[in-house]
Amino acid sequence: MEEIEIIKPDDWHVHFRDNEILKAVVPETTRHFARSIIMPNLIPPILNGNDALQYRKRIEQAIPKGVNFKPFMTVYLTENTNQNDLKESYKNGLIFAVKLYPAGATTNSDSGVKNLKKIMPLLETMTEVGLPLLIHGEVTDKGVDIFDREKIFIDQKLDFICKKLPELKITLEHITTKDATKYIKEGNKNLAASITPHHLALNRNAIFVGGIRPHYYCLPILKRENHRQALLKVAISGNKKFFLGTDTAPHFVHDKESDCGCAGVFNATYCLPILAQIFDNFDSINNLESFVSKNGALHYRLKKNKEKIKLIKSNKEIIFKKFIKIGNKQIKIFNPEFPVYWHIIN
Ligand code: DOR
Ligand code: ZN
Repeated sequence: MEEIEIIKPDDWHVHFRDNEILKAVVPETTRHFARSIIMPNLIPPILNGNDALQYRKRIEQAIPKGVNFKPFMTVYLTENTNQNDLKESYKNGLIFAVKLYPAGATTNSDSGVKNLKKIMPLLETMTEVGLPLLIHGEVTDKGVDIFDREKIFIDQKLDFICKKLPELKITLEHITTKDATKYIKEGNKNLAASITPHHLALNRNAIFVGGIRPHYYCLPILKRENHRQALLKVAISGNKKFFLGTDTAPHFVHDKESDCGCAGVFNATYCLPILAQIFDNFDSINNLESFVSKNGALHYRLKKNKEKIKLIKSNKEIIFKKFIKIGNKQIKIFNPEFPVYWHIIN
């Protein structure tokens, strides 16, 4: 048996939704993570500091008693976002970051940004006050191939923002390509990226094994194996510019297994054992702590967590629970379909 102890991890990209889903999924994250950035793409979205405050209260009610967990709230950037509200809400601790969704890029992104130029004054204000920008980095032009959306976003939009505002703290979220790893590595010191467990575990073939697999459909979509290898390389290397953001994104099974299925992978439950297994497979278990517990905090200028967790590698593989049940509905739990021998001892 092998055992390691690491600083309690943080998840820097989480979808908690609201109401019955919120209540069911919050404990899946708070069991292993100390802090999370909460995505604002509800219907309607979280548009200002007051929305964020109310949402934070609903989240706090869903945290199991006795569990220490801090949700960091975000605002959904639109072309009509109020500058003063952003500044005040950041100053008062109501918000931690601002999320940029290009309009139409993903789930509930219709009110997102169509014209980057219109939000440049807001980004300048964010730079002045030190408010971080989180980016869903995909272009949405109908003519662009779905597998090229991230690279083209980097070339046409991200590079423009970084050159104009090198002091703006930016996270390119859930990166999926070799191009993104290269751009981030070579980018300025305020630019970093998060990576999900599913993009580390699987390539795009997984969506089509023996038939169509809607539970592996997410955005940005899984890419070719050479891209997955590039993500693995930076994650297991301990490079400080890359850290965990799970993008755990619950949808009901009937909404995913549908004529027009939703994008999103609900991975909170076994995220850490899966990551430990992946790092171990590459003889890099020693760099797991950097990826899940240190690099993100460093990027966001936060202290590391004081608590620790233990992980044990046994000869018994985890038997994955299949679903989270909510009344007569269910959410499928991500299973990468390779054996996972690492267990978490809280
Ligand atoms: O797959 C995804 N699901 N990607 C996103 O960017 C959004 C998320 C969701 O909200 O379901
Ligand atoms: Zn997301």
